[in-house]
Amino acid sequence: MNSGELTAKVYIVGAGPGAPDLITVRGQRILQQADVLLYTDSLVPSELVACAKPTATVYKTAGMALDEMVGIMVEGVQSGHSVARVHTGDPSIFGAILEQMVLLRKAGVAYEVVPGVSSVFAAAAAVGAELTVPDLTQTVILTRVGGRTPMPDGESLRELATHRCTMAFYLSATLAKTVVQELTAAGWPPETPVAVVQKATWPEQKIIRTNLSRLVRAMGDAHISNHAILLVGFALDEALLEQDQHRSKLYDETFTHRYRKGVIGND
Ligand SMILES: C[S@@+](CC[C@H](N)C(=O)[O-])C[C@H]1O[C@@H](n2cnc3c(N)ncnc32)[C@H](O)[C@@H]1O
Repeated sequence: MNSGELTAKVYIVGAGPGAPDLITVRGQRILQQADVLLYTDSLVPSELVACAKPTATVYKTAGMALDEMVGIMVEGVQSGHSVARVHTGDPSIFGAILEQMVLLRKAGVAYEVVPGVSSVFAAAAAVGAELTVPDLTQTVILTRVGGRTPMPDGESLRELATHRCTMAFYLSATLAKTVVQELTAAGWPPETPVAVVQKATWPEQKIIRTNLSRLVRAMGDAHISNHAILLVGFALDEALLEQDQHRSKLYDETFTHRYRKGVIGND
């Protein structure tokens, strides 16, 4: 996409986690200029689409089935309009965009995906955590507890948990008990740190810092049963901020790389 006018196609835009100023500059420009907007009103705050131009047609999609929604997009583009399909967070994570893109392709309608700040990053920011801590973990698994959408073979929580890296759970606020059971069965200790962030970046954002053994009760006490990210693993240990360990090589003065002392490195 260039910086000029929009063209007649579908822009699948990541709106970010909720705060209206956490959409990208590109995403916001598309929302301001699009002729037709569709947004997931259960997860995207209406303030985000308030910047739409007065002549734009705005649809809420929470109550729509796939065919109806894609029908509006196809008709919009075929009438020469630009269409913004606004998703929460980043569209590529649990965004159900594949099924939309399949139907758009079948209809011969062009589309473009514009990334957004996924809620996992808003949750990490809310608790001030680095999810990849040197010498502790260098991996983050973004996943969910299987519900109506089952987990594919090889992706059970117990199997994923064998990596002992940071795990981020979407769509799992009502299934904390399963997280505890499965991670415990995989050998994670009861004191494993957990952070839960509900409605990250919204005015009503809630944060819990707890551990695996206390997770279910803590979520019950805080009345968190939806719209939350669970971050689990020792990278969430608040005590890390009090320690002078786990330094990266990047800023180590004895470590040379491409931008320091002219040695080629990978980091
Ligand atoms: C259908 S998924 C969409 C995820 C989205 N594409 C993303 O990148 O954040 C919805 C889930 O995302 C998480 N979520 C979305 N926005 C959130 C927010 N502001 N705070 C915490 N969790 C959020 C919750 O786990 C929720 O159940």
